[in-house]
Amino acid sequence: MSADSSPNRPRILALPGDGIGPEVIAPALGVLRRLSEIADFHAEIEEGLLGGAAFEATGRPLPEETLAAARSADAVLMGSIGGPQWDGLDRELRPERGLLGLRSSLGLFANLRPAVLYPQLADASTLRPDVVAGLDLLIVRELTGGIYFGAPRGIETMEGGERRGVNTLVYTESEIERICRAAFEAARRRAGRVCSVDKANVLEVSELWREVAERVGAQYGDVELTHMYVDNAAMQLVRDPKQFDVIVTTNMFGDILSDLASMLTGSIGMLPSASLDAGGKGLYEPCHGSAPDIAGQDAANPLATVLSAAMMLRYTLDRPELADRVERAVSRVLDRGLRTRDIASPGTRAVGTAAMGRAVIEELG
Ligand code: IPM
Ligand code: MG
Repeated sequence: MSADSSPNRPRILALPGDGIGPEVIAPALGVLRRLSEIADFHAEIEEGLLGGAAFEATGRPLPEETLAAARSADAVLMGSIGGPQWDGLDRELRPERGLLGLRSSLGLFANLRPAVLYPQLADASTLRPDVVAGLDLLIVRELTGGIYFGAPRGIETMEGGERRGVNTLVYTESEIERICRAAFEAARRRAGRVCSVDKANVLEVSELWREVAERVGAQYGDVELTHMYVDNAAMQLVRDPKQFDVIVTTNMFGDILSDLASMLTGSIGMLPSASLDAGGKGLYEPCHGSAPDIAGQDAANPLATVLSAAMMLRYTLDRPELADRVERAVSRVLDRGLRTRDIASPGTRAVGTAAMGRAVIEELG
């Protein structure tokens, strides 16, 4: 992505995508437009096609035009992609391939997925409030390697006609090193602890991962490094999630553990994410999927996407004061008791996607 625009006039590519994507993107763009009115910040927002929406319009989940627009934008804000109507397509044409292609073509190897419990939502978690109160952890997931991209892959027919499916888990030292570095850098700005999650008791790839993590860790004397097997990490995340500060892990382990971590906070509808390249440019998206079951019903929680826009302001656009402002507005809306369905609890006020977005915009001032 280009970095030649001024921080006051960033060029943002919005990719609403499928399912609830367009509904949750709209409030986030509303927030950015509102900031343009009230702060020294003038985002130029362009919209593009990705996923199933792109397939319907162009026959491909990641059109050249979208890729080119993403490359030239300062940052990309995505809604969500996918839906059952595209599940029968050739794998190459499915919406998920569009997103994976974008991550990989833009070199977005560092996926930051914070799981923060808003105190107002302590009741929305399925875990006891004392287990989750004050939760603030960050999963740093490797995003452009591992079993998601390893070759060979495919479904092949063996002699005799039986088929077998093949995927390959592969990581090079440099891939491991750069994601570990991202995790250590993040830990330095937080509580200074990294837990590297692997399966080194079984997998050679994990053995190498652990060795490289140690090597990188030795350069960060101020950050504590521990290791944990992924099965234990899943258990520990539910048993005592507050023991973690930063978790660094592979693409697939991170995919699974980040969904798990999201529910500690009450709802996946609250969790933003950033996917960054080596220069800190990025794609920002909510952790949740396209939720086709509630699409078009004004029922989705837009806060994960709004908070993704805040992460964009913080990490790529270098406007931490505006990021704070958005996050404070979200917190005030929760204080007011407004809740979408996913975070509803007794005594709160049910609102739809659009009304939640309007409330955040109001609270921005
Ligand atoms: C995520 C999603 C994606 C992934 C899918 C939609 C390809 O689950 O961002 O976590 O597996 O990375
Ligand atoms: Mg996932």
